Amino acid sequence: MSNHTDEYELLLEVALGVAREAAELTERERRRGLEVGTKSTATDLVTGADRAVERLIADLLRRRRPADALLGEEYGAGLGPARSGAGTPAQETRVTWVVDPIDGTVNYVYGIPIYAVSIAAQIAGVTVVGVVRNPATGEQWSAVRGGGAWRDGKRLVTSQVDDLGRCLVATGFGYDAARRAHQAGVVAQLLPRVRDIRRLGAASLDLCYVAEGRVDAFFERGLNLWDQAAGELIAIEAGARVGGLRGAAAGPDMVLAAPPLLYDQLADLLAALDADTGP
Ligand code: IPD
Repeated sequence: MSNHTDEYELLLEVALGVAREAAELTERERRRGLEVGTKSTATDLVTGADRAVERLIADLLRRRRPADALLGEEYGAGLGPARSGAGTPAQETRVTWVVDPIDGTVNYVYGIPIYAVSIAAQIAGVTVVGVVRNPATGEQWSAVRGGGAWRDGKRLVTSQVDDLGRCLVATGFGYDAARRAHQAGVVAQLLPRVRDIRRLGAASLDLCYVAEGRVDAFFERGLNLWDQAAGELIAIEAGARVGGLRGAAAGPDMVLAAPPLLYDQLADLLAALDADTGP
């Protein structure tokens, strides 16, 4: 085993333990009753649980990995080492944890069992470990760079579909009304050309579903790094190609994940529909 692999396995073990405890708290909070508020728009929900779970994740990581940085959906970098009272980290921060405490908050609030704790470890901006856990079903997906993608002990491979007409495509929509109108237009053009569309409501799970072949492909404009990082590695390690359109890398403009034989067909169509531009 190379040193790299040893380090990645250590990070994986930490991520798995943290994801399990975070998922338990997610479910305890739901049983206790949720306080629901809004963020960027009236449709963008946040709960006290989102914040409590992110604080728990930060505490657990600080205990096991005091020098590492943290980027989370609810507090940004605010719960990282500089603010933890620990002062300057003892050693140079190499690892950054990228965390979505509850991806799929709208489903969580409505009791639809499609939401996830998403935890990625990055080194120099490259995701080396990803764990996505659905607290409602107990399903857990994980990947280590170069080590394949796994769910509950089973190695994952994407679907082998290679023509658009037989492709089940997952997608998602932003919270801004103008962006949604544009995204609806893209879907209206796409729907007649593919098998069907799914809108699951949690991007990290969409990417895990691509890894597992539960859907053939996924695309969304406007994702944040915490929605993307862990699921992206899991999809890649299952053999998916993940990127943007017009040769760009995956990012806020577009995240497209598809089996390699399907990728260019879908990317060309989405580019023709301007799925990565506009509001
Ligand atoms: C959202 C979900 C949703 C996607 C949105 C994300 P959140 O994350 O992943 O599927 O369409 O773009 O913001 O707000 O539930 O953590």
